Amino acid sequence: SNKNTTIETDFLVIGSGVSGLTFALKVATKFKEAKVILITKDKKNESNTNYAQGGIATVTNSNIDSFEQHVKDTLIAGDGLCDEKVVKMVVNDAPNRLQELIEWGTKFDKNENGDYDLGREGGHSQNRILHHTDITGAEIERVLLKQVEAKPNIEFLEYHYAIDLITEHQTKKKKTKRNSKITCFGAYVLDQKKSVVKTYISKFTMLASGGNGQVYETTTNPKVATGDGLGMAYRAKAEIADVEFIQFHPTALYNPGEYPAFLISEAVRGFGAKLRNSNGQKFMHNYDAREELASRDIVARAIDNELKKSGNSHVYLDCRHLNIEKFKTHFPNISEKCTSLGIDIKKDFIPVAPASHYICGGIVVNKNSKTSIKKLYACGEVTRTGLHGGNRLASNSLLEGLVYAHSAFLNVSKKFTKTNMPKDIPEWNDNGVIKNMEKVLITHDRNEVKTIMTNYVGIVRSNERLLRAEKRLKVLYEDNKRLYDHSEISTDLCELRNLITTAYLITQFSKKRKKNCGGFFNMDLN
Ligand code: SIN
Repeated sequence: SNKNTTIETDFLVIGSGVSGLTFALKVATKFKEAKVILITKDKKNESNTNYAQGGIATVTNSNIDSFEQHVKDTLIAGDGLCDEKVVKMVVNDAPNRLQELIEWGTKFDKNENGDYDLGREGGHSQNRILHHTDITGAEIERVLLKQVEAKPNIEFLEYHYAIDLITEHQTKKKKTKRNSKITCFGAYVLDQKKSVVKTYISKFTMLASGGNGQVYETTTNPKVATGDGLGMAYRAKAEIADVEFIQFHPTALYNPGEYPAFLISEAVRGFGAKLRNSNGQKFMHNYDAREELASRDIVARAIDNELKKSGNSHVYLDCRHLNIEKFKTHFPNISEKCTSLGIDIKKDFIPVAPASHYICGGIVVNKNSKTSIKKLYACGEVTRTGLHGGNRLASNSLLEGLVYAHSAFLNVSKKFTKTNMPKDIPEWNDNGVIKNMEKVLITHDRNEVKTIMTNYVGIVRSNERLLRAEKRLKVLYEDNKRLYDHSEISTDLCELRNLITTAYLITQFSKKRKKNCGGFFNMDLN
């Protein structure tokens, strides 16, 4: 085993998107004597947050909008599965969290009158999206990174990959049961540059590792979104819920070979763009009275249906009738992207198709961001808070990360001085591994997961498709276990393990859901 690789820390934060950065910043500011270690598996800004375009839904203008209205829109999108108390908490806390972001230096666009320029997206009854042109997430990531890097008590480690959470499963060498009392003592972490596994022992662990869009062939998520948090938490026997609710973004740019899929923000439809099928006809009025601004589960299914009817791979967004100058000011990044591909939005349609975008469920947390495992908090896309229910309302997710990072911070603040460092934690054990595994097997398996999930557990599912997915994923699981038990540890191998676990969980939860709801659709149910 590796020597001298055990590190003790007060807080271990896994993930460097909006949730992890905000939490780390808050605890490091309040507890100047505390040591905070923040790990991320790629370069520091590589996260779903960094790719978020739309913005942050927040009620800021009480003349046209109200908390009640934002709550109602969220509940309608969630299709009866939201926790109303949670929705109220998040919506009511939004202005405070927004103010904090602004104080840290985040810039949101304003109009000629000096008021916030409020965008609109699907499912919102009002313009209420604060944004920084069409790169809101990157602006927030920039500001939070700057703040975090200025804190002397945060050690920020790039290219550090969490393999597994440490619980009684390792310390007592006994099998832990789901729903039993389990405690998190930290995590085993692969230092990817040095190829050594380190043991991080922590008083509190925050899992903010984001989503898992990579289980599908086409996704708006970057390469890092491989369901690591969900995989780790599942193996540690945390409670998990609602993972069958995968949100497909209706309008990713259709540009085969580009990876990840470039997003054409829903705010573009909020600005007035119209969808057209391959015959050039508008079609959304056939599906929902809100047309292009119906919630995205409805728009994605409508597009899927048009594609099935026509046999085509994409539909179109028509912007020709819009004020193009204004469009370019609002969406400089999207405009530039189209120009670079020879698409002149004054004359040409933009080809678009749905892509996997967001997982509405995940690790169950309470209002304090607490998981079912002691000393383990979780925040952001990796969680199931009850805010999104069956379908997340657009631009509610950066917001959820901010609100829950804050409530986790309040909760640990009460416990911090009373909590001791865990003792007698075993180091990582890599006995019995051989090191000559063919890397190409991992690539094959990863592609297979994507094909299975896209074909059988996509926008439209069926009993037969789910059964096929389950059978094939079981085979992949067995193959991966054999590889994992006998190979030198690597990020690719661990990511594959988490992709398979996540795919399997989505499939299992889909099989159990007996009524169509929100973003979940099984054609054998009603
Ligand atoms: C978008 O800009 O369309 C994405 C907004 C979101 O996913 O919340």
